[in-house]
Amino acid sequence: MIKIVLKLIGKVVMVLGLIVLSLTCSAQNNIFNLIPQPVRLEQGAGVFILNANTVIVLATESDKGLGELLALRLKTLTGYDLKVVKTAHAGRTIRFLSDINIKGGKEAYRLEVSSKGVDIKANQPEGWFYGIQTLLQLLPVKSKQESVGLSVRIPAVKIEDAPRFQWRGLMVDVSRHFFSKEVIKRYILQMSKYKMNVLHLHLTDNQGWRVEIKSLPKLTEVGAWRVPRTGYWRNQKAPEPGEQATDGGFYTQDDIRELVAYGRQHFVELVPEIDVPGHSLALIASYPELSCTKTSQQVLAGDPWNASRTNVVCAGNDSVFVFLEKVIDELAGLFPSKYIHIGGDEVSRAYWDKCPVCRQRVKDEHLKSSEELQSYFLKRVSKIVLSKGKKPLGWYENLPGGLPEEMAVMSWKDDKGGILSSNKGQQVVMTPAAYTYLDFYQGDQYLENAIFTVNRLSTTFLFNPLPKGIEEKNVMGGQGSLWTEQVPNERKLQFMTWPRAFALSETLWTGAGKSSWINFINRVESHLPRLDKDAVNYSRYFYDAIVSGIRGADKTLLIALSTEIEGLKIYYSFDDTDPDPYYPVYAGQPLRIPKGAQNIRTVTYRDGVQVGRVMKIPVAEIERRTPLK
Ligand code: ACM
Ligand code: ZN
Repeated sequence: MIKIVLKLIGKVVMVLGLIVLSLTCSAQNNIFNLIPQPVRLEQGAGVFILNANTVIVLATESDKGLGELLALRLKTLTGYDLKVVKTAHAGRTIRFLSDINIKGGKEAYRLEVSSKGVDIKANQPEGWFYGIQTLLQLLPVKSKQESVGLSVRIPAVKIEDAPRFQWRGLMVDVSRHFFSKEVIKRYILQMSKYKMNVLHLHLTDNQGWRVEIKSLPKLTEVGAWRVPRTGYWRNQKAPEPGEQATDGGFYTQDDIRELVAYGRQHFVELVPEIDVPGHSLALIASYPELSCTKTSQQVLAGDPWNASRTNVVCAGNDSVFVFLEKVIDELAGLFPSKYIHIGGDEVSRAYWDKCPVCRQRVKDEHLKSSEELQSYFLKRVSKIVLSKGKKPLGWYENLPGGLPEEMAVMSWKDDKGGILSSNKGQQVVMTPAAYTYLDFYQGDQYLENAIFTVNRLSTTFLFNPLPKGIEEKNVMGGQGSLWTEQVPNERKLQFMTWPRAFALSETLWTGAGKSSWINFINRVESHLPRLDKDAVNYSRYFYDAIVSGIRGADKTLLIALSTEIEGLKIYYSFDDTDPDPYYPVYAGQPLRIPKGAQNIRTVTYRDGVQVGRVMKIPVAEIERRTPLK
C-alpha cells in the first residue's frame, strides 16, 4: 500500500516538474506574448514596478476618458485604484503623450516601458487606446486576490505599432438567434482587447428582424418573434397551428444608441446590415404585401427551407423601395458608421420569374432576365443608401448585370469576389468562408452539432486578405463572420469566436504570415488564462486528435491520427475504455481496426499532462467518411 502511495507521489512530483519546466520554457521563449504581434518590439533591461503609488498622467483634456478606462482596468486586474492627473508628476507614472511624429495613421502608437515609467505615445485617441490594450497584455495574468497588495512587474520594452488593415471585423448574426445588448457589449469589450474595430451586425434574416424601425412597427412586433426550437437547425419542426411565437427579441432605438456609444468608447464601429431582397422572411411575415405572392407567412423557426414559401421581396413593386427608404433612413440616423450593409446574397429568383409585376419590371427596364433584375434591385437600394449620406456595402454575388459601382463588397464564398471587385475599383472586405466563417466547426464533426464544414484554428491562421491578383489598395481588410443558426447562447457565441478571433486579430492588425504557427500557438496558449479570468468561453479543440479514415492497398479502412499542434502524444483504444498514457501511443503508422471494434477513442497529452478531450468516434462513422472510390 505504502509502496503504491510513494509511487503515486513520485508521479505527481514528476508531472508537476514537467509543468513547471514547460511553463518556464514558454516564458523564456516569448516573454511578451502579445496578440496581435506588434510591428516592432525591442526588449529593454529591467522592469517597471506598478504599485499603489503609480499615477496616470494625461496628455490632453480629451483623453480623460482613456485615462479613466485604463485606471478601471488596472483596478480590476491589480486592485490598485490609481489616480488620474492632468499635470506632470514626480515619481512613477504611466503617461499619455502626444507625438505628432508617429506615423501609421490614427491607430498607431508607441509604448515605452522602463524602470522609470510607462509612456504611451500617440496623436489620436485610437492610438492611446491601442497602447493601453498592449500595456494591459504586458501585465501578468494573476487573479485579483493574488496580486492585491503586491507590486506588479512589467518588463521593460519599446514597441512601435500600427495596423495593417483599417477593417478588422467580426460579424455577429443576431437574427438566427437574438443576443441581448449586454451580450453584445461584452463581445465588443473582448474584441477591442485584441484591437478588432468593426462589429458588423446582421440584423435581419428569415429567423428574425432585430432593430426597431419606428415608422414600421410590425417589423419587430411580428418579425422579431418565432416559435422556440432547440437542436439541429435542419431538423426543426415548422410551427404548429396556434403555437405562440415566444422566442426572439430586438434592439430598441435606445438600445442601438447605447451600443453605438459603447462601441465608440472601445473604438469599435457598429455596421448595420439589413439583408434584402432574399433572406427576408421576417420582413415578409410582418408585411406580407411586400412579397410576390402576398400570402401570409411565419418567421422561420430554423425549420428546413422550403420553396413553397418565398423569402424574397418583390422587385416589381415600388412600395418595396418606399418601405426600404424608411428603414434605411432610420438606420442612417441611428448608426454613425459610413456604411449600411444591404445584404444581397443568395436570392432565389423563382418567385420573381412567376410574378407579373416582376416580369413587367424586367420588360420596362429592358432587362434580360431575373438575374438582371437582382442587379437592378441592388442598384436602386444602393442609391437610397447614398441619398442618406451613407456608403452601400453588400455581399458579393456573381451577377451578369453586375453589382452597383458605388457599393463596397464583402467577398464571402471565396477570394474571387474580392479579386474581381477590387480590380474594378470597388472597396472590398475579405471574409472567405473556408478561413473566416466562425459558424463552421472547429473539431471533429461527429462530436459537434456540426454545420456545413470544418474551419480549424490552424486554417483561420492561414487566412490571407491579400490573395494573388487582388488590387491591394482597395482592400479595406477582413472579418470573421459568425452565423448563428447553431449558436443559441452567449457561451456558444464565445466558444465559436475564440481562439479563432486571435488568428483574425493577428492577420488583420499585423498582416498575414508574420509569425510562425508555433510562435502563434504559444501566444494563444498564454492568453487562455486571460479568457478564463474574463469568464469568456473558448474552444480547446486545437488540442484534440484529428481522426481520419484512409483506405489501405486492399481497400481496408485504416485510421490515421494527427494533431494541429506539435509536441502532443495521442493515446488510443479500441476496447471502449477511455485511453490514458498506459494505452498505446500513436506512432505515425495508420491503425488497423481490430475485428469487432465499435469505436476508436483518443486522448492527447503533453509532457505527461492531458490537454485534449477523450474523443469517442464510431468506426462506422469513419467508414462513412471514407468512401471506397
Ligand atoms: C452568406 O454567407 N450567405 C453571405
Ligand atoms: Zn414580384
